[in-house]
Amino acid sequence: MNKLLIGTNLKMYKGIRETSEYLLSLHELTQELINRITLFVIPSFTTLYHARKIISDGSILLGAQNMHPMEYGQFTGEISPIMLSELGMDIIEIGHSERRQNFRETDEEENAKVLSALAHNFIALLCVGETLDQKNYGVADEAINIQIKKGLYGVNPNDINKVWIAYEPVWAIGINGTPPEPDYVSERHLTIKRTLQNLFPDTINIPVIFGGSVNQENACQLLSLDNVDGLFIGRSAWDSQQFVKIINNVLPVWEEKYE
Ligand code: PGA
Repeated sequence: MNKLLIGTNLKMYKGIRETSEYLLSLHELTQELINRITLFVIPSFTTLYHARKIISDGSILLGAQNMHPMEYGQFTGEISPIMLSELGMDIIEIGHSERRQNFRETDEEENAKVLSALAHNFIALLCVGETLDQKNYGVADEAINIQIKKGLYGVNPNDINKVWIAYEPVWAIGINGTPPEPDYVSERHLTIKRTLQNLFPDTINIPVIFGGSVNQENACQLLSLDNVDGLFIGRSAWDSQQFVKIINNVLPVWEEKYE
């Protein structure tokens, strides 16, 4: 059985002190669980050095919320894969909907980041998901498939074991998000799995995790769905105790699924 894959992106919220406290607490509260879960946290850039020092045993995987694909150059304000390697990061989050919507990132740019992240031995966590408009026009699957096919274009099958996909419908994310219907999530995950299978026929399982208004109430049901391989949580995971409550609730659901 694969370990339960569960994590959070702290977005632009916690600074060094808060992130350190959060990680210390999460580390302590999950010590007994850590051989049953793959737990990851993706904090702000400015906290990463301290975060790595605190989680020095690797029990919680740490990631960066973005990365420039080039190793160095005239790219003022950007952070390179070499810099993130130096910080000991495990994961690069690529194409979160807030990056695509607010910073106009394109699939071509996400693709360059995926290839660069893999070349530098990170886990590339590619986020995909349709907008409300695409959902309403009935083109969610088309939109997601384009993001996956372009985002993973040129990925060497030998590197695919370092790719994770997060399906996060844009309309379900954040304060104004609408919690999604399980049937809808299940259908989209199936689409994603089929597309991945077509792209990488020899690969058994590329994890596809779900994110978007996951909370205490809906986490178990979402995780119990076919083809949902884990959860990617925002707001409901930013209090370590609440996060661990969710983990404890969903773990039996996950383990039962693979009995
Ligand atoms: P949310 O965020 O759980 O607060 O909706 C999810 C995300 O942005 O990954």
